[in-house]
Amino acid sequence: MLDTVDLARRYAYPEGLDRPWVRMNFASSVDGSATTEDGVSGALGGDPDATVFALLRSLCDVILVAAGTVRAEGYEPVKPDEVHAELRAELGLDPVPPIAVVSRSLDLPEALIAPGQIVITSAASPPERRSELAEVAEVVVAGEEVVHLPTALKALDDRGLRRVLCEGGPSLHGALADEDLIDELCLTIAPVLAAGHGPRIAHSDHFAGRSLTLGHLLEAEDVLLTRWLRRRG
Ligand SMILES: NC(=O)c1ccc[n+]([C@@H]2O[C@H](COP(=O)([O-])OP(=O)(O)OC[C@H]3O[C@@H](n4cnc5c(N)ncnc54)[C@H](OP(=O)(O)O)[C@@H]3O)[C@@H](O)[C@H]2O)c1
Repeated sequence: MLDTVDLARRYAYPEGLDRPWVRMNFASSVDGSATTEDGVSGALGGDPDATVFALLRSLCDVILVAAGTVRAEGYEPVKPDEVHAELRAELGLDPVPPIAVVSRSLDLPEALIAPGQIVITSAASPPERRSELAEVAEVVVAGEEVVHLPTALKALDDRGLRRVLCEGGPSLHGALADEDLIDELCLTIAPVLAAGHGPRIAHSDHFAGRSLTLGHLLEAEDVLLTRWLRRRG
């Protein structure tokens, strides 16, 4: 049985952050598939993963996520009953974290575009769509062709959003790993041998090879809940 107070202690962000701390959260099958047969990840990891997913959302200032995942998983703004209200209040956080979505095309579900949400895009995005989105949500232009990820994180930092929870997907994960911008990876390993053609949790054109050290390893209902910290220097 996973206890919220214990989990909140185990997954606490470092105190006194003076820069954004990027926490990735992913689930995979034992053989490394990031999706189930329906092409999404929600069912991987069952109740233990759902518990940690909600807990991590409860601890963060902002949820960073790429447009592919937003489209595949049908993202909407976080609702107050999806996070632990008392925990957020104790930590001095707003009732819900905003979603900051990374996209160049700006092909985003309308349900996500709401006051308080953030769209991070590049100067090459369609200008009309950018203006349309800016009437409702906050639009940040970071970079020329694609979003320059250090600039995107700086924009979050400028807004006091340092406890970053990145929910994917694999392309954004790979790009962040390429630039060595990841501080930790929370990975749920679901008791499933998937085979098939599901993607891995990170991919890019380069081998990044970032060293990690184990923060913790929990087990619940045969699901492994792991936390890995980037080992720098
Ligand atoms: N197992 C898990 O825990 C987990 C977690 C998350 C997602 N997933 C799965 O992963 C799949 C989606 O992953 P994915 O790798 O295809 O996509 P993704 O990483 O979620 O999104 C890729 C898209 O994000 C935007 N993007 C990313 N980096 C950008 C940059 N630097 N500049 C501008 N735009 C950028 C682009 O959007 P535009 O096309 O709009 O320009 C790009 O096409 C889904 O099946 C989802 O269910 C699994």
